[in-house]
Amino acid sequence: MDTINEIKQKIDIVDLIGSYVSLKKAGRNYKGICPFHSENTPSFMVSPELQIFKCFGCGEAGDIFKFVEKIEGIEFSAALEQLAVKAGIKLEKKDYDPESAKRKELYQINSLSAKYYHYILTKHPQGKIGLEYLTQKRKLTPETIDFFQMGYAPDTWDSLHKFLKKQGIHENEMLDAGVISEKSSGEGYIDKFRGRVVFPFKGIDGNIVGFNGRTILDREPKYLNTSETAAFHKGTFLFNLVNAKIDIKKHGAVIVEGQMDVISAYQEGIKNIVASSGTALAEAQLKILQRYTNDLTFCFDADSAGVHAVYRAVEIAERMGFNIKVAIIPSPHKDLDEVLKADPEKAKIAIRDAVDVYDFYISSTLKANSKESALEKKLILEALVPVFSKINNPVIVDHYSKMLATELGLSEDTVVTMFKGGSLGDYSGSAEDEQKLPLLSRDNPEGYFLALLLKADIDIMREYAYKMDVEDFINPIVVNIHKALVAYLKEDRKSFNIKQVIKKAEEGYHDNISELYLWDFDGIIEVDSPQILEREIDSVFKRIKKDSAKRAVKALTEKIKVAELEKDWDLVLKLTKKVEKLKKLFL
Ligand code: UTP
Ligand code: MN
Repeated sequence: MDTINEIKQKIDIVDLIGSYVSLKKAGRNYKGICPFHSENTPSFMVSPELQIFKCFGCGEAGDIFKFVEKIEGIEFSAALEQLAVKAGIKLEKKDYDPESAKRKELYQINSLSAKYYHYILTKHPQGKIGLEYLTQKRKLTPETIDFFQMGYAPDTWDSLHKFLKKQGIHENEMLDAGVISEKSSGEGYIDKFRGRVVFPFKGIDGNIVGFNGRTILDREPKYLNTSETAAFHKGTFLFNLVNAKIDIKKHGAVIVEGQMDVISAYQEGIKNIVASSGTALAEAQLKILQRYTNDLTFCFDADSAGVHAVYRAVEIAERMGFNIKVAIIPSPHKDLDEVLKADPEKAKIAIRDAVDVYDFYISSTLKANSKESALEKKLILEALVPVFSKINNPVIVDHYSKMLATELGLSEDTVVTMFKGGSLGDYSGSAEDEQKLPLLSRDNPEGYFLALLLKADIDIMREYAYKMDVEDFINPIVVNIHKALVAYLKEDRKSFNIKQVIKKAEEGYHDNISELYLWDFDGIIEVDSPQILEREIDSVFKRIKKDSAKRAVKALTEKIKVAELEKDWDLVLKLTKKVEKLKKLFL
């Protein structure tokens, strides 16, 4: 057995997590308040059978190693060491992460490179052009330049290369660190950054993981990042998190698009600020932020690309349970950096007065559309329905319906109806739409049905699993899991074993099954009571059958129309009978 499994055998996940979080039994699982995001009602589930945890609020999930990594804010190799001690298992050399040794080597090369660039910028005549750019054009002070350890990469082919070589660094290592590249033609190497002011990228532990360089010679690309290396992963990197983390814990996080926005803001005393640097903000980056705060203020560029980036980011952040505000860049400025340069107070006010994300949706939609005609008003509302129809809080819905009704000169009823997903021409919450909802939504009957079944007594489970047909489901994930469950049940076991169900399913669905099994329905239904559970299963079962019958009737009606046109009366009669039967049974 390998070390990892040996440790897993020795440490029970319920004991381990129980020492950090108070857990209560809930059916076959345990539940508690999630330690990774702030919540009042527990949505954090732990399964002793599967030895995994999952939070249905923030989405965090995994095994004992993942839990320790997250809760202690450490990397896998450190979690492994810590849990090995707990389990009383001695680690062999091969168990130590070979990547971590490589990373250390790259940190050292990066650190030397940063020192070199910083020296050129601040002390060497070659760096004068960079220093002028930063101090005059970007209005940065020498303190800021030192604080961020900014540098200048001269516009030469190999000056860093030569410097590192003198320090005894081998070319392969320089390549691995991404500070030089192989020449595209012929032999030899070139420095990655040339004619650019350089910003070191510092990881959360303060090590330099990579660089970003801005051209000062008007070359493309404007900004150049270190590519992926053993030390730098852009998908999880946040610029300035290392400096901002304490302030972020206290005041929430301001997120901007560019490093220059961060640096100017920091210089003006806005310290709880980070940038996603060269990528659209991703879930992995937000997960890291969530260790420190649940409050985000997006302060993206004012252009339409920026507004769309906010939409995308908000969508992800909302799903993860963040409280979100949006700071509006006052016109005519493009980004926070420009506002700061023009008037630092104005920038601070923009951040302080950041609007609630819903206000932002409304104001940006109103700004992008005219609202003269009825049709235009309809378009505005249609653009907002997907956002507002998801809000459950009646106070919030009421507030914004009033606001929009006034703004558009419509009656409040009209707006409310539409926000409830009501009749907006062709927009309606049809059965098909419902099935497309996330698997773990109570509004998605198919996923909910499976989750309920997995918690039921094995006989009930068998009865309802068999009564369902493949065509009754729309969602392909559900179809596949249902198939696996039936295959498992056919082997006629007396006691239920979730691991065996997972084994029956295709690899791609394993996580879905664990999730459905762990899902606690936010305490909406009492899973410990077999009667209540069975009643709920029966009612969802009927609903799915009804939706499925409706679809079948619709398809048959189309066929009847064709048969009528073709005057095939036998077929018409046969199909009509089918329709009647379906209607009698389910509708
Ligand atoms: P912007 O083009 O908005 O740049 O890109 P900026 O931050 O305002 O830069 P200045 O003020 O002109 O110097 C925002 C961010 O997108 C990434 C960089 O991280 C930049 O900070 N970016 C931009 C790239 O990675 N490559 C590019 O070519 C351009
Ligand atoms: Mn800018």
